Amino acid sequence: MNERDLKKVLSNLPLEDIRYFEQIGSTNDAALAWAAEGAPDLALVCADEQTSGRGRSGRRWFTPPGAALAFSLILGVRPGEEGLLSRFTALGALAVCETLDGLGLPAQVKWPNDVLVGRRKVCGVLAEAVWLGERVDRVVVGVGINVSAESVPPAESLNFPATCLECEAPPGEAPVAVDRLALLHAVLAALLRWREQIPGQGFLRAWEDRLAFRGEAVEIWGVKDETLTGRIEGLDGDGGLRLRSPEGQAFTVQFGEVHLRPLAAEAGDEC
Ligand code: BTN
Repeated sequence: MNERDLKKVLSNLPLEDIRYFEQIGSTNDAALAWAAEGAPDLALVCADEQTSGRGRSGRRWFTPPGAALAFSLILGVRPGEEGLLSRFTALGALAVCETLDGLGLPAQVKWPNDVLVGRRKVCGVLAEAVWLGERVDRVVVGVGINVSAESVPPAESLNFPATCLECEAPPGEAPVAVDRLALLHAVLAALLRWREQIPGQGFLRAWEDRLAFRGEAVEIWGVKDETLTGRIEGLDGDGGLRLRSPEGQAFTVQFGEVHLRPLAAEAGDEC
C-alpha cells in the first residue's frame, strides 16, 4: 500500500480528504485530532501499520505492516442523529459484512462491533464521538480488518477466537489472496451507502439480520462488573441487545461484550 495508489483507487468515492501513513500510532487518534482541528465530513485516515492501535475497553488492536486494513473515517453528525450514535458502530460492521459476503465469506455481527466469519473475529469497529461544546459534532468510525495470517494476534492474547480473510475460504473453494486496496474501496463504498440510511428502520433491520448467536445462550460481560446470561433475541429500537434470561425474563443491554456460554454451562440451560 502507498499513498499514490490509495488515492487513485479511492478517487471515485466522494471523500473530502485523505491522510495516509505508512506507520502511525492509531488512525483513530489521528482522526480525532484532525476532527478537533476542523476536518471536513468524509475525511479519511488510513495506515499500513499501527503501533498503538486501540480496541474497545482500552484493549490493544494489532496491525502489523502489510497484513491488515486499518482506517478511520470522520463523519459529520446530522440533525436528528444525536440519539443514534450506537448506529455508527454498526455502520462500520454492516459495511464490512456486506463486502465480505461479496467475497463469498458470509459474515455476521457479534454485537455491537465485531465482524465474524465462521464464528471467529475478523474485524473490529471502534466508533468515537467528537464533542463541540454540548453536542456531538463528528463521529470517527475506526475499522480494523485482519487480512493475512500475520494480522491475527497470538491466541493467548485473545478473549475471543480470531481469524483473517486469507485464512478463510468460500464454501468448497481454496482461500484466495485479498487485494487490500480493492477491499478498502468496497468497504468504504458500502459504508457511504449505509451512512445515508442510519436513521431508518431498514438500517436497524439489516443490523439485526446480521446478528451472530441469535437464539443461542451467551454471557454478557462488563455490565456493572456482572456477568449476565441469556439467549439473544434481537435488537431494540436503540440498537441495544434483547435477550431472555434462563428464568424467561426479557431484558436489554446497551453495553457489554457477548461471549458464548461454555458448553457445560449451556447443557440443560432453558432460557
Ligand atoms: C475492537 O475490536 O475492540 C475494535 C477494534 C478497532 C480497531 C480499529 S483499526 C483502525 C482504528 N484505529 C484504532 O486505533 N482502532 C481502530
